[in-house]
Amino acid sequence: MSTQPMLEVSGVTKRYGGLVAVKDLSFSIRPGEILGLIGPNGSGKSTAMKMIMGVEKPTSGRITLDGAQISGLPSHKVARRGVGLVFQHSRPLNRQTVLENIKVALLPDSLIRLFADPEVDGKARAIAERVGLGHVMERRPPTLAFADLRRLELAKAIARHPKLVLVDEPFAGLTASEVGQFSELIREFRTEGRAVLLVDHNVKSVAALVDRVLAMYLGEWIAEGSAAQVMADPTVRRVYLGGALTTVARPESSFKDVNAALQVENVEVLYGKAQALQGVSLHVHEGEFVSVVGLNGAGKTTLFNAISGLTPYSGAIRWAGAPLRDLSAAAIARLGVVQCPETRELFGDMSVRENLDLGGHLLGGQERSERLEWLFDLFPILRSRQSQIARTLSGGEQQMLAIARALMMKPKLLILDEPTLGLAPVILETLSKALERLRATTSISVLLGEQNVTFALPHADRVYVLDHARIAWEGPPGRFEAEAAATYL
Ligand SMILES: Nc1ncnc2c1ncn2[C@@H]1O[C@H](COP(=O)(O)OP(=O)(O)OP(=O)(O)O)[C@@H](O)[C@H]1O
Ligand SMILES: [Mg+2]
Repeated sequence: MSTQPMLEVSGVTKRYGGLVAVKDLSFSIRPGEILGLIGPNGSGKSTAMKMIMGVEKPTSGRITLDGAQISGLPSHKVARRGVGLVFQHSRPLNRQTVLENIKVALLPDSLIRLFADPEVDGKARAIAERVGLGHVMERRPPTLAFADLRRLELAKAIARHPKLVLVDEPFAGLTASEVGQFSELIREFRTEGRAVLLVDHNVKSVAALVDRVLAMYLGEWIAEGSAAQVMADPTVRRVYLGGALTTVARPESSFKDVNAALQVENVEVLYGKAQALQGVSLHVHEGEFVSVVGLNGAGKTTLFNAISGLTPYSGAIRWAGAPLRDLSAAAIARLGVVQCPETRELFGDMSVRENLDLGGHLLGGQERSERLEWLFDLFPILRSRQSQIARTLSGGEQQMLAIARALMMKPKLLILDEPTLGLAPVILETLSKALERLRATTSISVLLGEQNVTFALPHADRVYVLDHARIAWEGPPGRFEAEAAATYL
């Protein structure tokens, strides 16, 4: 490994009005090195990446690439110097095919006339194969599975052979085997002598991949060293890693409602010719916490959208004995069946407070302010950011706002679709405690969809496994490991 740093970040600060998102941050990365950047939600990781890429301008400080200053350059010039960014969220051209998306990334704007060039075509195909998109090259992004969309972002980033690759949360929402495949691709970057800056909340996978870790908190450097050293650092443990999740499942016989509050019977959903749900039946008792686990594409979101009135289906779905089929999504929400969707669906141009007030618009004044207080205690960051525009929140802060907005509606049945996406471990602990408090003090029912069983199992009284559009297993969480884990996940 060369000892000369490729990237040097020296004393960089970024302010947004009164908020200091990144404060006097310094670090460097050598060629052929993978540096992991960790820290709680909102600690400035994405902001640091955006400043390196030239998407955001540092308020002060200096960034150099191979000795030449790049801070202050616009992002297309930074890209030309050899930096590529894989964004936290996918943003493909939806009307072009996968192959065309890669070609667009291959060609600077002035050379777009070379689009049909066989050499460009060959290069784009090679990149598609390399990241595992070979079988979907001719498809358009809206038809792709979640992991393939992430692969496409990776393909676009490497199209111009960057010497420095910035990767923001590549593992979020991926299954264990997909995380393995992505890690392998990132390892290849290292072998090729590229430098990599990697941000992700999947601590184990980051630790297994990186050469070195830097931890941030409130915009500042707090620790740096080997993964083992940084993870053992007391401050990192306190502000980022948090403690273990422990809860106790209650047996189904302890729920007194004979007819379960939510009944899903033989539900089928077709998207064109593709069967998204096949003969799905499940139930949730009043006060019961039920987890639906399954890989990406198994049908979890489709199931939740059917319950919430967002997707047409055949079969029956009943809430408190009454069929939901002919009700609008809004009417279903008024009955107390509230979904916090995977896609968050925040009002991006409205403030944090406005988003919460919209959630609580059906509550009386007194009840609404009590609820708001409770949520601000739960997620203190939302209290201090009430007037911030939602779309400028960090990834994890947006997730907290989406969960808080759903809770603002005082749901009787709360449907959480992949709530752990993008949340720091310490916030998972907060969310876990909040769910426990709801479980102990209210009769709320929770239906939780996750491919991350480490969160789904501790919070379930009962578990269903959804596999290829069907319910493949049902039972208490204690039996999951022995009976279902190996076959379905
Ligand atoms: N335009 C903006 N105006 C005000 N505050 C902003 C703006 N952009 C970002 N911030 C704030 O800066 C802080 C750092 O955000 P950043 O996206 O860098 O966090 P992060 O470490 O990537 O977090 P996460 O793990 O949740 O993605 C956050 O508190 C965020 O709300
Ligand atoms: Mg981020």
